Parts: sequence; C-alpha cells; structure tokens
Amino acid sequence: MTISQTTDTQPARIVVDDLTVTMQLKDRSFDAVQNASFTIEPGQTLAIVGPSGCGKTTLLNVLGGFTGATTGEALIDGAPVGAPDEHRATVFQADAVFPWLTVRGNLEYGPRIRHAQDAASKARTDHFLQVLGLEAFADEFPKVLSGGMRKRVDIGRAYVNNPRTILLDEPFGALDEITKEQLQDELVNLSVSDPKTLVFITHDIEEAIYVGDMVAVMTPRPGRIRKIIDVPFARPRPENVRMEPAFQELRREIQSLLRND
Ligand SMILES: Nc1ncnc2c1ncn2[C@@H]1O[C@H](COP(=O)(O)OP(=O)(O)OP(=O)(O)O)[C@@H](O)[C@H]1O
Ligand SMILES: [Mg+2]
Repeated sequence: MTISQTTDTQPARIVVDDLTVTMQLKDRSFDAVQNASFTIEPGQTLAIVGPSGCGKTTLLNVLGGFTGATTGEALIDGAPVGAPDEHRATVFQADAVFPWLTVRGNLEYGPRIRHAQDAASKARTDHFLQVLGLEAFADEFPKVLSGGMRKRVDIGRAYVNNPRTILLDEPFGALDEITKEQLQDELVNLSVSDPKTLVFITHDIEEAIYVGDMVAVMTPRPGRIRKIIDVPFARPRPENVRMEPAFQELRREIQSLLRND
C-alpha cells in the first residue's frame, strides 16, 4: 500500500551551521554544543554517536525547537527552527505510550488532537499498524505489550502524523539485542517505504552505522562534531551486512574517533 504524500509533507532538508549552545550554570557557563555544522538532505538519516554528556540531546532539542541556539543557526527547509509543530516528531528512549488508549488510539492521537482525522489519517494508521506488526494488537491496551511493541507504538505514532522530520533520542537503548536489531530493520525499511528526514541519536556504534546514511561522531564536552562519515550500504540493508569487512572497518574507525586515537 502506498501512502500519498502531499507537497507539504515532503521530507525536510536540515542545515546546521556553526551552531553553539551555551549552558548557563549558577557560577559559570559552558558550551554543550560547539560549532556544529552539517547538512541532512531530504529523506536521509543522520546518526549521531558520542560519549555521555557530549551534547547529543541538546543538539536534538535545538532541532526540535525546545532549545535555542546561542550562536550559529539551525535551518529546516531554509527557515530557522521555530516552536515545535506537527512537521517534526520526536521519539525518546523512555516510551511515551498513553496507557489509557489502545494501540490504535495511540497512533490516532496526533491527528485527533489536531482535528486532522480523515480518511487519509485513518489509512496511515492502518498502514503503520501493519508495517510495524501491530495489527493483531490494535485494540489492546499498552499494558499487554512488550518493550519492543511499545517502541513500535511510539514510532507508529510519529509516522502517522506524516511529519517531515523525525528526531529519535536513543530510542532502542532499553531493548535487548535481538529486539533492537528487529526495530533497526523496521526503521531502515520505513526509510525506504515512507522516507522522512531522520536524526537518530545512539551510544551504539553498530546501530549508528546500520540505521544511518551518515554517522556524525561527537567529541566529549564541549560537544563538537569530530567527523561525519558516509555509510555506503544499500537500503534495506543486505543480510549479514554487520559481518562485512567494510562494516567492521567503519566500526573500527568510529571507535577510534570516539577514543580520540
Ligand atoms: N538545561 C541545562 N542546563 C545546564 N546544563 C545542561 C542542561 N541540559 C544539559 N546540560 C548539560 O549539557 C551537557 C550535554 O547534555 P546532553 O543531555 O545534551 O548530553 P547527551 O550527549 O545527550 O548525554 P547522554 O548520552 O548521557 O544522554 C551535559 O553536561 C549536561 O549536564
Ligand atoms: Mg542524551
């Protein structure tokens, strides 16, 4: 099933230009993000890896419109990032499903509160229930779902709104390896069937390579972008791509950048 895309829901182009975010503490200030620059072309996934506290969430919060730039700028489709709106969706590590709504109710929540429930949004709900393997659970409440299923609900909820950009902050951090790999596959498959511009934050180097078209490696505080690496593998990812020498070589390169070798 294909979902019609109107021109105003085309994936976004994101440009971050010399962005610095300075945090003010009681007696001092420091840069949580320093001089970050990158461009994400429409429909591409930028994965960001970096040590804890290096400013990944801060960077994502700027793109989400939750935190302002101190200097430099972040542009979405040529305009400075504004207040959060329906063109951007965020998926956090902790799942954010509403326990009082069924799985279908969770997916329909966004269109419903925007008074945008129509035949197209219903078709999108059915589509993502199916793509994410949630159909059999559509009328169940979240309490019967596993952690992986709840994450699928979060992802479905983001996609149903048909945003231009989806920001994901360590979304699979709490899942076991197998479930994590299944969800990585689903996300990569979605990037083919329903392209969105994705920013995907993770601690996990393999995950960054697997889901990213590019991997941005950040330095420890103050968070700078150390290097942006292009990922050469096809989408959907070839089976066993993680075992390929080229994949392992990228993994080693990123590991060594993170260690500051
Ligand atoms: N509102 C705030 N005020 C002051 N300092 C903050 C604020 N938010 C974050 N920080 C600090 O900014 C730095 C970057 O934090 P951030 O949450 O962006 O890191 P992170 O890379 O997402 O870390 P993690 O991998 O642990 O999630 C940290 O030192 C943090 O303590
Ligand atoms: Mg964080």
